[in-house]
Amino acid sequence: MREPQPKAVHLKDYAPPPFRVETIHLDVDIREDHAITHAKLAIRRNAAGPLVLDGDEVELVSVSVDGKKPRYEATAEKLTVYDVPDAFTLETVSRIVPQKNTKLEGLYATKHGFVTQCEAQGFRRITWFVDRPDVMARYTTTVHADAKRFPILLSNGNLIASGAEAGGRHFARFEDPFPKPSYLFALVAANLEVLREGNLSIYVEPGTLDQAGWSMDCLKRAIKWDEKRFGLKLDLNEYKIVAVGDFNSGAMENKGLNIFNTRYVLARADTATDVDYLNIDRVVAHEYCHNWTGNRVTCRDWFQLSLKEGLTVFRDQEYGADTYSRAVTRIQEVRSLRALQFPEDAGPMKHPVRPQSYLEIRNFYTTTVYEKGAEVVRMQHTLLGEDKFQAGMKLYFERHDGQAVTCDDFVQAMQDASGVDLEQFRRWYDVAGTPVLDCTGDYQDGIFTLTVKQSMNPPFHIPLAVKVGEREQVLSLRKTEERFTFPAKSKPVPSLLRGFSAPVILNYPYSEDDLLHLMARDDDPFNRWEAGQRLAADIILKRDGKPSTAFVEAARNVLRDPDAAFVAEALMLPAETFLAEQMDVVDPDRLHASRNALRRALAEGLKEQLRKTYESSTVPGPYSPDARSIGKRSLRNLCLGYLGELGLSRLADAQFRSADNMTDAMAALATLANLDCPEREPALAAFYEKWRDEPLVVDKWLSVQASSRLPGTIARVKALLSHAAFDLKVPNKVYALIRTFAANHVRFHAADGAGYAFLADQVIALDALNPQVAARMARAFDRWRRFDSGRQEKAKAALERIRDTDKLSKDVAEIVGKALA
Ligand code: PHE
Ligand code: ZN
Repeated sequence: MREPQPKAVHLKDYAPPPFRVETIHLDVDIREDHAITHAKLAIRRNAAGPLVLDGDEVELVSVSVDGKKPRYEATAEKLTVYDVPDAFTLETVSRIVPQKNTKLEGLYATKHGFVTQCEAQGFRRITWFVDRPDVMARYTTTVHADAKRFPILLSNGNLIASGAEAGGRHFARFEDPFPKPSYLFALVAANLEVLREGNLSIYVEPGTLDQAGWSMDCLKRAIKWDEKRFGLKLDLNEYKIVAVGDFNSGAMENKGLNIFNTRYVLARADTATDVDYLNIDRVVAHEYCHNWTGNRVTCRDWFQLSLKEGLTVFRDQEYGADTYSRAVTRIQEVRSLRALQFPEDAGPMKHPVRPQSYLEIRNFYTTTVYEKGAEVVRMQHTLLGEDKFQAGMKLYFERHDGQAVTCDDFVQAMQDASGVDLEQFRRWYDVAGTPVLDCTGDYQDGIFTLTVKQSMNPPFHIPLAVKVGEREQVLSLRKTEERFTFPAKSKPVPSLLRGFSAPVILNYPYSEDDLLHLMARDDDPFNRWEAGQRLAADIILKRDGKPSTAFVEAARNVLRDPDAAFVAEALMLPAETFLAEQMDVVDPDRLHASRNALRRALAEGLKEQLRKTYESSTVPGPYSPDARSIGKRSLRNLCLGYLGELGLSRLADAQFRSADNMTDAMAALATLANLDCPEREPALAAFYEKWRDEPLVVDKWLSVQASSRLPGTIARVKALLSHAAFDLKVPNKVYALIRTFAANHVRFHAADGAGYAFLADQVIALDALNPQVAARMARAFDRWRRFDSGRQEKAKAALERIRDTDKLSKDVAEIVGKALA
């Protein structure tokens, strides 16, 4: 049976907290099969009424107010204390069981010890507290644990005391000088090794210290960058990163004590790919950037999540652009925005960058809040320009340092510092959906007229970067329909939405010749790429994947471009999830066949040149993850993939065997995994044998099989569920196998519904262990209504089966409920 409908939380119901917690002394005593937490809170009243504290799976042992037993009431999730004075000390003692915490939220066990994860509402799983981000307290934390098994004890702030205790135990006490919301609390008791440089430390699981060097480089680079580009300095005596293998998401910006998924810390040339190296760089920078945008200025409530996430993603994107190639970085961001955020914005979980309600906040750590949120910040940057934007940042910190604020406060600072009117712009925060710009062009008597109609009503304020003829400018769209004129000697091919200046869908009646012209000559590299993507999409969606000779020749020309990284992006075809959004009824088999047909046609047409490029793009010398080398490897491996379409599995196998770095090994293995060839099985087997003791590499082995386009993939994935390499309790394994399969468009959406039934089974099994991860997996059903009636029926049955499961979590209930609504 279904649980009673959980209640939604609404932004419009926000009220300031009735009580402030000024300081907290938290004592966490980790024992063999449980932990005791003792919290001493200095509280002050703001408004009338009893004190209500949050808790979740914490057993209350005792409670006192100013040393006396109060009148109180305790339910599973609330502790209500009556008749409290205006200022008082509250003490609670609670019992928790981190050893059995499979949700990986609150305090939980990982391979070599214990760690915490508190965002968004995990602190209430450690102790009773006013667990909301607008309650900021100063923390003093004491940790006790077995000295031998858990030699490293950490918490936010500075170490102020430590020592041995009876029974082979020890303790450490930390004082954090910065008042902070509870979601930024962190604690670690574990057996770890440390890489230290000055006041920076990276703690990793034993035996992996040789994989920590790159993230240290990244951290140092991010610190320098934030100082140079944003004028923001590190404000801490100690900055620590702890990497653990059991973690629900990527990483967490706890003040002074970031906790990371090992996936975003550990790298060595032979174990990590270029993409891993780049992701690590970005995530390290992201968490570092949060120290200002998120920690120094935090969110008033969880509806404002994008205040810190959108802004911090924008900042890490800029770090990426300044560190590597700006053009290629932008192309990659837009590719992923379109493949992930656009479908979200058109599906059952669509929500504004600032949502107005939720059942479970964990479900709102979305690509809309993060990536579209970053686009919304980027548009303000585009409208203001770098100098005024930086003036806005300065004013934002002057006004709000140490506060918990809203997205409006951010926009207001931008507006006040720049004098640019952003009133209308605010709609981007509150209205969901991807705007469509329908553009037309008319040329008469030396004047080109561009007409732009936008789908949003009332209209949005949209920066549209264009170049018509020689003139480059940012048009500021504010009306439903607008006209712009440009003098021109002959009918121009306009370059529109340059650099993807707004997260919109732009239509313009370009001819094939227009697009070929832009693909060859646009001086905005993003739009050169975009023209190629438009052409490819058209060939796949409207011409069964059969390219014109002109398109093949244009691709040949692209291959001659000296910027290898750009070429690799330009010759990569649009993703099936993005293309599917452009079909009235999605036919995944036809889509897949057409896309592959185009790949094959390009491979045949460009065979010699692909071969030559493959051979000339080797990177000499020892592995280095610099932009140039990465670009060359990605071009070479792109060529390998195309050549694979011609059945050149021996080439891939040779690369697989001789590769001296994981990028080349993995690219070769992925090519083999997609081909029905004799080299396939031996390569997969050899790879596992070699890497079975490296969990992150085993993840690659799982996902390369789950992403194979071969028809036997689902059977393979099912078999892997019971392989020693898989563990449903470890999120990284679930993501590698199950999420990768669910993102395998043609296989997941198989006509017989086997993919849907499989995913339903996994969501149900996972929900009992880790609802947050289960809910993420359930998102793969989002677009089910876009398919034919046969598939719809099967998807619906799978969703209903999940919905009707006993004791379903709020997390999954929200996703499935919305999908079925
Ligand atoms: N705040 C983290 C980040 O974006 C993400 C996160 C959210 C991690 C919730 C854990 C839990 O950096
Ligand atoms: Zn973040």
